[in-house]
This record gives sequence, C-alpha cells and structure tokens, in this order.
Amino acid sequence: MSSAPRGTDTTFALGGTLTVPRLGFGAMQLPGPVGGPARSPVESAVVARRAVELGALHIDTAAFYFSAGGVRANDILRRALHPYPEGLSIATKVGPIRNEDGEMVGEADPGQLRAAVRQNLKDLDLDALDLVYLRVGRLSGSNGAPLGDRFAALARLRDEGLIRHLGVSNVTGAQLAEARAIAPVAAVQNRYGVLDQDDDALVDTCAAAGIAFVPFFALGGSGGSLSDAALRKVAERHGATAHQVAIAWGLARSPAVVQIPGTASLAHLEENMASARISLTEEDMALLAA
Ligand SMILES: NC(=O)c1ccc[n+]([C@@H]2O[C@H](COP(=O)([O-])OP(=O)(O)OC[C@H]3O[C@@H](n4cnc5c(N)ncnc54)[C@H](OP(=O)(O)O)[C@@H]3O)[C@@H](O)[C@H]2O)c1
Repeated sequence: MSSAPRGTDTTFALGGTLTVPRLGFGAMQLPGPVGGPARSPVESAVVARRAVELGALHIDTAAFYFSAGGVRANDILRRALHPYPEGLSIATKVGPIRNEDGEMVGEADPGQLRAAVRQNLKDLDLDALDLVYLRVGRLSGSNGAPLGDRFAALARLRDEGLIRHLGVSNVTGAQLAEARAIAPVAAVQNRYGVLDQDDDALVDTCAAAGIAFVPFFALGGSGGSLSDAALRKVAERHGATAHQVAIAWGLARSPAVVQIPGTASLAHLEENMASARISLTEEDMALLAA
C-alpha cells in the first residue's frame, strides 16, 4: 500500500519568504466563545505556550476574538508569548466589525481597516504584522462582493511596512483574483475540511499559485461534529481519533494546506499536534474523498 504525500512535518513558504510549519494553532478558542462566557486567561496562556513548545509556530488570531468578559485572544498571546520566540509567526484578520456581544454588525471601510491594523500592532506589541487577512462576508460564506478598495487599503499598509504579507479570507475564486490583481496574496483562509470539501478547486488554485490555503473549521468548528463512518474507519486503521485524521487529511490533501486547529484544551492540543505523525495512505484518501 503506497503512502499519499505526507506533508505533516513540512513547512510552507508564505509569500515565498516566510517559512511556517504546516501544522499551526488557531487562537479563537482561547478567550472563550466569541461573545460568550470567558475562559481563564491564565489557563489559556498555558495552552498558547504549550502550542509553541510543541512546534505550532504559526498562530492565527484576530482582535475580534474576545469573550463577553472582555478577555481577548491577542492579549492572551502577548502576555503568554512576548517577547515572541524566533521562528514564530502570527497571522491576524481585519474586516468584520463586532459589537460588544460579539455579533458581526458590519464590515470595516478602508479607514477602519487602518485603525484595526494599528489595534493589532498595539495589542500584540509588534512593529509589523507577519500576515494580515482581509476577512469578508459572513461565516456562512462569502457574499462575493468586490473587495478591491479594502484590499488596496491593506496593500498600502504593506507598502508602509506595517504588514509583511497579505491574505484574504472567506472568499470566492473571483474575489481572490480581484485581490491578486492589486497586490500579492500569500494566503487564503476559507472554511474547509474533510467533511466540508466544497472549496476543493480553490485549494488547487492556491497550490498552483504558491498561495497557502489555511482552512478554518477543519475540525468542524465549535460544537461541530466529526461523526462520519469513513472518518471513523480511517481513524481505527491508524489507532487515531477522528480529529487527528481530519488534521492529517488536510495536510495530505495539498502541500499548500496550513492547518490551524483551534482548542482551549491542553489534552486536545497534544492530540492535535500528534496528528503530524499520521501518514494517510492513498486508500485512506480515496475513502475520505468527497
Ligand atoms: N477566517 C474566518 O472567518 C475564521 C472563522 C472561524 C475561525 N477561524 C480561525 O480558525 C481557527 C480554528 O477554528 P475553530 O477553533 O473555530 O474550529 P476548529 O479548529 O474546527 O475546531 C475547534 C473545536 O473543536 C474542538 N476540538 C479541538 N481539538 C479537539 C480534539 N482533539 N478533540 C475534540 N474536540 C476538539 C474545540 O474545542 P476544545 O476547545 O474543547 O478543544 C473547538 O470547539 C480559529 O482559532 C481561528 O483562528 C477563522
């Protein structure tokens, strides 16, 4: 039985220059559910530090990841990790405007995007941000609306040296093309996973263009389920959990995939990082194909 491309212990060169491990960490769970009850920032800081110890040297965050208690992902990361260790890259997102309850109430205009970038710089105590995504549309999917003026605003901030690499999130192929006509796109962050393969074509577009594809909700998201017969079968074959196979599947699916599984649990973090050891076979991949 031959093995599918492993890719689990490999890196990706974001924008051709910023080397990131293909198994990173998503920080959205650290403060507690957006707009929901706060988690202990002290316990979440332990999780963030352990993620880095385990090699998750690419962390995904946003200033709008906060719980009802005013506990913020960016504050947790700064307090836990600053001064940031060599080799750690932090990606953030701007675009959505959220009210105090965490509800999305609008999308930032170019001036508000500039303010959001400055807020992230301050919160994370950085002079420049490694990767900033323009996050558009609703969680249910992209609304397909033109993003040119907003992406151009971020491109100007990149020219000013406040941002190293640009990304787009929750986009269609047409929106990606629109952004690429304005400035280089280093990463696309869209909803995608083993049980949610609608963006297959976009993954391949990104891989062909040297753009990282960074799935969100690769584990089904908060309260999501990974209950699926094929997933269970492959997990049994490898003595692994469904969550581990979901992570390994994305890594094997394309060398452009950079995983950012989210958790506030130390046990889940250890489990997720151990998925780097799982090498799925071609037979596994065929079983898990949509
Ligand atoms: N661009 C966007 O629009 C967008 C939207 C959403 C998220 N994101 C980014 O994507 C990252 C990942 O998203 P996410 O955290 O919402 O979803 P996710 O990675 O699909 O899954 C997180 C959920 O799975 C649970 N989980 C994690 N590991 C597990 C394990 N080994 N066993 C059982 N349950 C496990 C977590 O709960 P526990 O805490 O209990 O482990 C959490 O509820 C976020 O951190 C954020 O950076 C981006």
